[in-house]
Amino acid sequence: MTAVLQEHTSLKPFNTFGIPVYAHFFAEIFSERDLGAILQDASAKAQPLLVLGGGSNVLFTKDFEGLVLKISIPGISAEQQGTRVLVTAGAGVVWNDLVMYCVQQGFAGVENLSLIPGTVGASPIQNIGAYGVELKDVFHSCRAYEIATGEMRTFAYADCKFGYRDSVFKNELKGKYIITEVRFDLSTEANANIQYGAIQSELANRGIAQPTIADISNVVSSIRVSKLPDPSTIGNAGSFFKNPVVDREKFEAVSAKFPELVYYEVPGNQVKLAAGWLIEQCGFKGKVVGQTGTWKNQALVLVNHGGATGQEVYSFSEDIIQAVRAKFDVILEREVNLL
Ligand code: FAD
Ligand code: EPU
Repeated sequence: MTAVLQEHTSLKPFNTFGIPVYAHFFAEIFSERDLGAILQDASAKAQPLLVLGGGSNVLFTKDFEGLVLKISIPGISAEQQGTRVLVTAGAGVVWNDLVMYCVQQGFAGVENLSLIPGTVGASPIQNIGAYGVELKDVFHSCRAYEIATGEMRTFAYADCKFGYRDSVFKNELKGKYIITEVRFDLSTEANANIQYGAIQSELANRGIAQPTIADISNVVSSIRVSKLPDPSTIGNAGSFFKNPVVDREKFEAVSAKFPELVYYEVPGNQVKLAAGWLIEQCGFKGKVVGQTGTWKNQALVLVNHGGATGQEVYSFSEDIIQAVRAKFDVILEREVNLL
C-alpha cells in the first residue's frame, strides 16, 4: 500500500474520544518512503502538520486546517543475543499487538504495559506508563524523520529526556520529528515487577505465587478493564490529566488540611498526588454534564457519552481544573494533547 493524499476527511474514526471533526488533508503512511513522498508534495508541504497514531491521547476542539498523517508503518522483528532480545517495531504497530507478541515469545519487559491503547510510534512521546513500568525502562532507541530536512535520525535513550508522561518530543523537539520505528531492550529472563498493590492482590485472588509474564499481562489487563472505559463503546482518552507532582512544602500544606490525601513519594523531594482522588473529592466522580462527564469508576477519565463536542469536553475539563485549584490550591495539567 502507498499513501494517498485525501481531502476533507472525517477524523471521528481516528480519535478515541470519537469527536466528529475534519482534516483538510489526510494521508495514511505505510513506510518511511511514503513520508518523503507525501511531504514533498507542494500542497502538502504548505500545510500545518499533525501526526496521529491511534488518536488515543488527543482531544480535537475544532477541525484540523492542515494535513493529518496517520502513521500505519507495520512490522515487528527480534534479534536475540543470549538472554537479551532487541525487538524492533514499526511506528504503526498497535501497542498491545507488540505486547502480545512479546508475551507469546517469552520476551519480558512490556507485560505491565498490556492493553494501553495506541501505537508503538507514540509510546516514547509521553513515555507511556502503567502498573510500575514506564516505556523508558525498556526503550533502546527510535528512528525518526526530521520534518524540516527529510533526514532520518536515531535517538538513543539519553537523547529522549524521558520523565513522567514526558520526553524531548513534547518539549524542545515538539512537532519536529515523526517517529517511524522503535527498538526495545527486552530479556528472555523475566524480572517480574509486581510491586503495584492491585497486581499483588489480583495474583493472590487467582492463587498465583510465581507469575509468568503471561500471568502478569492477564492480571494487568483485567484490572484495566475493571477500571477504564473501553473507547470502542465510550469515547475517552484515558487519564485526562497528569497526577500533579508538587514540592514537599505544598504536599505538607495540603495533607495537613486533608489527611486522607492519596499520594506517592517520588525522587527529588517531591510528591505525586493522585489526581483522581482530588477530582473525586470535588464531587466530580461519575458526574454527567451534557454529553460529557467523568467515568463512574475513575474520576481522572473524561468521557464522551455520545455526541459531545471537543469544546464541551474542554470546557468541562476547565471546570475540573478550577474546582481542584479552589479546594486544594493544586493545578492540574492535561495529559491529553489539545488540538
Ligand atoms: P495519538 O493520540 O495518536 O498521539 C499522541 C501524541 O503523539 C500526539 O501529540 C501525536 O502528534 C504524537 N504522535 C503520535 N504518533 C507519533 C509518531 N509516530 N511520531 C511523532 N509523534 C507522534 N497512557 C499511558 O501512558 N498509560 C496508560 O495506562 C494509558 N491508558 C489509557 C487507557 C485508555 C482507555 C486510553 C484511551 C488511553 C490511555 N493512555 C494511557 C493514553 C494513550 O494510550 C497513550 O498516550 C498512547 O501512547 C497514545 O498513542 P496513540 O498512537 O493513540 O497516539
Ligand atoms: N482515586 C480516587 N478516585 C478516583 C480515581 C482514583 O480516589 O476516581 C485514587 C485511588 O485511591 C487510587 C489512586 O487514586 O488508589 C490511583 O488511582 P489508579 O490506580 O487508578 O491510578 P491513576 O493514578 O489514576 C495512573 C495513570 C494511568 C495508569 C494507572 C496504573 C496517570 C495520569 N495515570 O492512573 O495511566 O494506567 O496509573 O498505573 O499517571 C493514562 O495515562 O492515560 C493512564 C490511564
